[in-house]
Amino acid sequence: MTALSVSTSAAASLRADALVIGVAKGSKGIVPAPGGEAVAEAFEGKLAEVLATLGATGAEGEAVKVPAPAGLKAPLVLAVGLGDAVEGGYELETLRRAAGVAARTLAGSKKVALALPAESAEEVEAVALGALLGTYAFGTYKQNGNGGKEPVGELLVLSTRKGSKDAKAAVERALAVGEEMNRARDLVNTAPNDLNPKSFAAIAQAAGKEHGLKVEVLDEKALLKGGFGGLLGVGNGSANPPRLVKVAYTHPKAKATLAFVGKGITYDSGGISLKPAGHNETMKCDMAGAAAVFAAVVAAKRLGLQVNVTAWLALAENMPSGTATRPGDVLRMYGGKTVEVLNTDAEGRLVLADAIVRAGEENPDVIVDVATLTGAMILALGNRTFGVMANNDELRASLHAAAGEVGEPSWPMPLPAELRKGMTESTIADLANMGDRMGGGLVAGLFLKEFVAEGIDWAHLDIAGPAFHEAAPFGYTPKGGTATAVRTLVRFAEQKAAGGKG
Ligand code: BES
Ligand code: MN
Ligand code: ZN
Repeated sequence: MTALSVSTSAAASLRADALVIGVAKGSKGIVPAPGGEAVAEAFEGKLAEVLATLGATGAEGEAVKVPAPAGLKAPLVLAVGLGDAVEGGYELETLRRAAGVAARTLAGSKKVALALPAESAEEVEAVALGALLGTYAFGTYKQNGNGGKEPVGELLVLSTRKGSKDAKAAVERALAVGEEMNRARDLVNTAPNDLNPKSFAAIAQAAGKEHGLKVEVLDEKALLKGGFGGLLGVGNGSANPPRLVKVAYTHPKAKATLAFVGKGITYDSGGISLKPAGHNETMKCDMAGAAAVFAAVVAAKRLGLQVNVTAWLALAENMPSGTATRPGDVLRMYGGKTVEVLNTDAEGRLVLADAIVRAGEENPDVIVDVATLTGAMILALGNRTFGVMANNDELRASLHAAAGEVGEPSWPMPLPAELRKGMTESTIADLANMGDRMGGGLVAGLFLKEFVAEGIDWAHLDIAGPAFHEAAPFGYTPKGGTATAVRTLVRFAEQKAAGGKG
């Protein structure tokens, strides 16, 4: 695991394998960003020229390696682009991304010092978190790790900040969030023959022990006894039976009680409504919601937030077999509602419905579910933005705002009342698990809303787009699992802990 700390040492005298500076597009060419002054000076006025010769422009995403001049102890300087030069501080997301690019580019180095803009505690945290997320690599199944390149062993965030106490706290926060995000990425990337409901539950139990969280697991017998028809209906086609996992963090002076519910389909084949080839190769990612709520509750504990957070992991594997639920079957869900399963590929809403009803029994102030729920949401918002729905306008707005603050793109989506009809009028049961094709992401949201107890504020994050990144890495986002929504949940919990509305 990568070590991370903050230092006020002078960049020039640091013994590191590489020094990272930020460079930006100024009106007359490339300019070094704050934090990199001493490194730039060592080039004796030649830095802009050298970088330009090497093709650098200062654009975001750029990373250019330059041999260090005499006067620097480190042998290598890496210049990362920050985009247009700005006065009065770069956006925190720009810093996170630049630090992420640097950490990924320098994989294989033992020690890297980041001389990026890091004056305020917030900037220190952004650089630290971006770098930590940028070190991420998933080498579990590769014989030679990641092309023989180990992630950076030690990251030093250089800061001019005098009172180093809050800079240290900022690094601690980055570690708590970044390490749990990287763990969530591992869960998403793990092959579905290794990660199933049972093994996921065991990982949650082990982490609970490690961090002092209360973990309860309902196995298939307990689910049958409890009447969890949604989880059982989805899981009964698989040799790997379902689980409902509760992970609870409590604080004696909690300002609010939050329930985070995650969709945990460890593999979504579609079931009897089988997905065609081309649509199931990445469906190990269908547990990214469960991974996100799990990471969020552990991070809340590590940060000691003044809230109670319960994560509910609704775990099942959606497979076709002789025992699988058929299109046409009616399930009796936890709490008694009946659902006609018209399409077994609309399975996420079935496991979530059980978990949302169960979560509601504990009377939380808010329920937020996180799910790779619909392809329709990807059609609507693309691959990098998640949809935010809610039964309360203020809550939807505050989750969208929290996401924006931490650098997670999201967009508020409506729950139009008329779309509910398609799910009730087409069925012999209380509800069907499918409605109108148009607005499919909203239909799924409306389905979940039916299971939220009267009087409880509820929001739904459809992360089907950003949960799994198939294109080339960018910023601090690697290929594969991204851990999207973790930071939004943590920020939301922080706001609740501070007594904020939402
Ligand atoms: N897990 C999928 C949604 C998904 C698609 C996530 C692509 C990530 C990438 C979900 O279970 C699903 O299959 N949804 C169906 C619902 C439909 C049958 C009503 C969909 O979106 O096609
Ligand atoms: Mn599905
Ligand atoms: Zn699914």
